[in-house]
Amino acid sequence: MESIERPAVTVSYAQTLDGRLATLDGSSQWISAPDTLCFSHELRASHDAVMVGAGTVARDDPRLTVRLAPGKNPLRVVVDSSLRTPMDAAVLAGGAARGTILAVNGRAPEGRRREAESLGATVLRLPPAPDGGVDLGALLGRLGGLGVRSVMVEGGAALITALLRERLVDRLAVCVAPKILGAGIEAVGDLGVRDLARSISLTDVTFTPRGGDLLLDGRVEYPTYRDAVSRAG
Ligand SMILES: NC(=O)c1ccc[n+]([C@@H]2O[C@H](COP(=O)([O-])OP(=O)(O)OC[C@H]3O[C@@H](n4cnc5c(N)ncnc54)[C@H](OP(=O)(O)O)[C@@H]3O)[C@@H](O)[C@H]2O)c1
Repeated sequence: MESIERPAVTVSYAQTLDGRLATLDGSSQWISAPDTLCFSHELRASHDAVMVGAGTVARDDPRLTVRLAPGKNPLRVVVDSSLRTPMDAAVLAGGAARGTILAVNGRAPEGRRREAESLGATVLRLPPAPDGGVDLGALLGRLGGLGVRSVMVEGGAALITALLRERLVDRLAVCVAPKILGAGIEAVGDLGVRDLARSISLTDVTFTPRGGDLLLDGRVEYPTYRDAVSRAG
């Protein structure tokens, strides 16, 4: 049987110097400079799909369209187990639903599913992840089956962490803003890494100053067990 390749996954976000994605109350607007926002839109235009978690939709209500760069809008994907995204969210309202996929699991009520589909959204029902969310490997497989070859993930913290933990991220493009927040939402949560030899690293990294921020863009390399043992020894 022919196997379907999962799309290449780029994770992109803006963080402060101390690794915060947002303030403690969840506000993340204006972490990066306006010129860096253009970079985000360029990246959206160069991917087949852009993906966020339901938490980001609830907090920021993003449109996930390309406005600050030339190019067409990617497909929008919201990872949303119980389909809690409001029907008037920007990713669904005003006809936007026709370009939006809602990735749910068995927790999504049938009525909400029908409501979203009546707006034109595609609802993909996926197996649950062990922690109760959506199985992200299965989601990427389904997207691959729909012809999606590249996905840009824009956050938030829970989705970024889960994808890194499951080794599903191929490229990381991070904007580091010269700001310190102290307490706040950390960009990446616990990955179970307890020694440096087991850290995830970037290779072929480019460092580009842009609009007062620094853009780091590179290929993600996961440690192998053998790496960890030989470096520790
Ligand atoms: N600085 C930046 O670049 C940037 C970018 C984006 C967001 N943000 C900020 O990030 C914050 C939101 O982050 P967040 O962590 O609360 O939300 P998130 O990562 O956007 O969404 C997390 C939610 O996605 C759903 N989900 C379903 N399956 C999942 C899985 N396998 N793994 C992980 N999540 C899964 C879960 O909700 P259900 O259980 O309901 O399905 C989960 O609570 C906001 O403050 C936002 O402003 C910052």
